[in-house]
Amino acid sequence: MTLRHFLRDDDLTPDEQAEVLALAAELKANPFSRRPLEGPKGVAVIFDKNSTRTRFSFEVGIAQLGGHAVIVDGKSTQMGRDETLSDTGTVLSRFVDAIVWRTFGQERLDEMAAAATVPVVNALSTEFHPCQVLADLQTIVEHKGRAAGLSMTYLGDGANNMAHSLLLGGVTAGMDVTVAAPEGFVPAPFVLEAVRARAAETGATARVLTDPHAAVEGADVVVTDTWTSMGDEGDGLDRVGPFRPYQVNDDLLASAADDAIVLHCLPAHRGDEITDAVIDGPRSVVFDEAENRLHAQKALLVWLLEHAR
Ligand code: CP
Ligand code: NVA
Repeated sequence: MTLRHFLRDDDLTPDEQAEVLALAAELKANPFSRRPLEGPKGVAVIFDKNSTRTRFSFEVGIAQLGGHAVIVDGKSTQMGRDETLSDTGTVLSRFVDAIVWRTFGQERLDEMAAAATVPVVNALSTEFHPCQVLADLQTIVEHKGRAAGLSMTYLGDGANNMAHSLLLGGVTAGMDVTVAAPEGFVPAPFVLEAVRARAAETGATARVLTDPHAAVEGADVVVTDTWTSMGDEGDGLDRVGPFRPYQVNDDLLASAADDAIVLHCLPAHRGDEITDAVIDGPRSVVFDEAENRLHAQKALLVWLLEHAR
């Protein structure tokens, strides 16, 4: 067994992602069937940014796996006084069996993971939100019976963590992924390169468009996210005007498949990226999606802990 981390969506191969998603479904049906953290063993869960879903789902999930979550605000640790990420990863590895971290730049996670001797999980970075996309894929499979071969369109900030993870996690699952975003808010070139590589393995496709109606045409799954991600608040960019045409509303959804479902990782800014009518309407699966954070993350932890031994 080799130590594995989950820092971005392509840290799992397509087969491994499918294994984790199958386990997530099993754990949803039978929540207390796996107890790899019995002891209890500890898991560090560190937040450098706000959270509701991630915080609650990891704390409850770790307890359901038999473990104990040590949940801290990163600023309150010595990392907030410039202890190196490398020393922190080394020390935490002596106490806990996994490290879950919500932070800013991906390079911070890379540095922690390079020193850690236990799995490190990205609970959201500026670049990726891979735990969320595992839950999204679980939700898609529940509602549509499969993910591979379906088309998924994301509208909004194409440069944010959700756009990147939906692209990378989506093509890993064999989905045809479209991102529709205003100019200047397109996915990072390094992500598109990784997406192309992964899509070549799975036979999936990915494209980036500016026309929201063309992007949604025939889509099986429509996804959006906030126009202003945590950390982007003071970037001086107009994060409202250019995004208005990308709002997920009934008019836009008229172009999607008749049985299209709508996802949003939440928190939602109702009236901006999504209307009340859509988020509270019959196509919305956003609250199943939120619940699946619990099941998908438990499955991920079980999988990582098995591979770390
Ligand atoms: N979707 C998501 O990660 O939610 P929180 O920010 O509330 O954790
Ligand atoms: N893109 C959003 C996701 C929040 C869960 C952010 O980073 O703030």
